[in-house]
Amino acid sequence: MWKRAKNIIPGGTMLFSKNPDLFLPKFWPAYFEKTKGCNVWDLEGRKYLDFSMMGIGTNILGYSRNEVDEAVRKVIDKGNMSTLNSREEILLAEKLIHMHPWAGKARFARTGGEAAAIAVRIARAATRKDKVAICGYHGWHDWYLSANLSHSQNLNSHLMRNLPIEGVQKNLKNSAFVFEYNNFDQLKKIVSQNNIGTVIMEVSRNEPPKKNFLENVRKLTKNKNIVLIFDECTSGFRETFGGLHLKYKINPDIVTFGKALGNGYAVNAVLGTESIMDYAKSTFISSTFWTERIGSVAGLKTLEIMEKIKSWKTISSLGKKIKIKWEALAKKHKLKLIIQGLDALPRFDFDNKNNLYYKTFISQEFLKKKILASNSIYLCTEHNINMFSNYFNILDEIFFTINRSIEDRLDPAALLNGPVCMGGIRSNY
Ligand SMILES: Cc1ncc(COP(=O)(O)O)c(C=O)c1O
Repeated sequence: MWKRAKNIIPGGTMLFSKNPDLFLPKFWPAYFEKTKGCNVWDLEGRKYLDFSMMGIGTNILGYSRNEVDEAVRKVIDKGNMSTLNSREEILLAEKLIHMHPWAGKARFARTGGEAAAIAVRIARAATRKDKVAICGYHGWHDWYLSANLSHSQNLNSHLMRNLPIEGVQKNLKNSAFVFEYNNFDQLKKIVSQNNIGTVIMEVSRNEPPKKNFLENVRKLTKNKNIVLIFDECTSGFRETFGGLHLKYKINPDIVTFGKALGNGYAVNAVLGTESIMDYAKSTFISSTFWTERIGSVAGLKTLEIMEKIKSWKTISSLGKKIKIKWEALAKKHKLKLIIQGLDALPRFDFDNKNNLYYKTFISQEFLKKKILASNSIYLCTEHNINMFSNYFNILDEIFFTINRSIEDRLDPAALLNGPVCMGGIRSNY
């Protein structure tokens, strides 16, 4: 199926992160037939436990969650689309604003890239300044990729390596400037040397903010009349009910949410202060399917369940335990691991030049036991610590083998039954 896909779909998939070559070339199941809880069935009916990406972060409440699907089914029965608007988008806006009292107005979209583009457009409309400072991954659009026009590696430390930019307008060069997370001095320099109107950043992904980092960003942007956007497409709902910024008590001017908001159904939100959001009316931001009803209904039901079961607490506490156990196993097998990420989205890398080989080996060995696993886990409320006891027994053996391979200076490729996984986008992928 993957070969067929690559013949007819350039790049094989619409989302690079679902490229099977990122996990286990030739063997990763690649296509699914059905899902439930934290299980995925492939096209041959084999059932896997998903200890990997859980829809690339879309399903905090697990796959095929009954209550959400039931709410969506009702929409299908009554009608998803019409000439008139759906009231649920008002209810979702009210709910999200209630959760984020600093915000006053909301817009909706269906993808994270769209939400980020809407937020940046509104910010530019408000400040009448074109230049943007960026920290994090925000999507596939021209304005984001244009950061790589001045140097092809500029965005490399922001989740996706080697982002190719052919087709991005060359005259956008020097309109987007990248700063490193926790490097306030770098941001200050960018702001002092360029007429920056917008700062867009993730609140936290791999590492927590250093003391005063977010406070300093907020102070600087306020003093310079720069619109501050927090992109919480991934960080939202994982550690708090809503944005991670609520934990740090730093309010942006605009925040975007996506991924988990609809528990697998497409809905993204752009929230902001009333005065900034009203600039949406000074420009044209409009799209047919931003008005379909399933997204808003799924969002409302997902928020209702998250609030009821306090999902962010469950997944964070599980993630904490997983990080501790990773650490202990690494110590036992004398492996150097770099453990990072929000507790609800923990990840590790081997502090070793053969990291990608060992990561591929992990996926290979877990797949034999019908577990989808790599080096990061998007936790959901259907995961529990008991499920992980088998995972840790298997990982124990894997770490043992990796350590032996390192100590005996063996070729890491000898561990693999196929090619090593991709570490980022490579030419002709
Ligand atoms: C922080 C952040 N912003 C934006 C996006 C883009 O979202 P989408 O893939 O839905 O366009 C992502 C996706 O990973 C993300 O993590």
